[in-house]
Amino acid sequence: MERTLCIIKPDAVSAGNVGNIIAHIQKEGFRILAMRMTTLSKKSASKFYEVHQGRPFYDSLVEFMSSGPCVPIALEKDNAIAEWRRVIGSTDPAEAAAGTIRKLYAKNKGENAVHGSDSVENGLREIAFFFTEGELADLA
Ligand code: CMP
Repeated sequence: MERTLCIIKPDAVSAGNVGNIIAHIQKEGFRILAMRMTTLSKKSASKFYEVHQGRPFYDSLVEFMSSGPCVPIALEKDNAIAEWRRVIGSTDPAEAAAGTIRKLYAKNKGENAVHGSDSVENGLREIAFFFTEGELADLA
């Protein structure tokens, strides 16, 4: 079993797509280990995305991710990192495959509805950013 972090981003929360996205998660067979709604401070968003510091989109990414409530969700499934990236589609919705979450709900590369971890190591780090070990469901 592998773990990944989904974040339903502020654009998708304000557009009322939380339920639709959770339905995708469950239809695709992911187990939800933990979930909450929270509004990131600029400081927290900067820290979460620190690997992107210095990239041209960093400031707007931090601004956007702290602009309203988001919903971090810890997910588990065999091959969860690749599987979740398949379900969400490409970063740019214009390039995302039909039926993917970003094709359905993202506006553009920045306001792109959902986050997915890009490696097993980052998935665990990102889950730990939002949830303590004790908050993760033990569904075995
Ligand atoms: P996410 O999966 O959350 O991880 C990094 C985020 O940076 C990515 O989704 C996008 O929202 C954002 N991002 C990546 N590339 C660009 C870009 N070229 N322009 C704007 N935002 C970007």
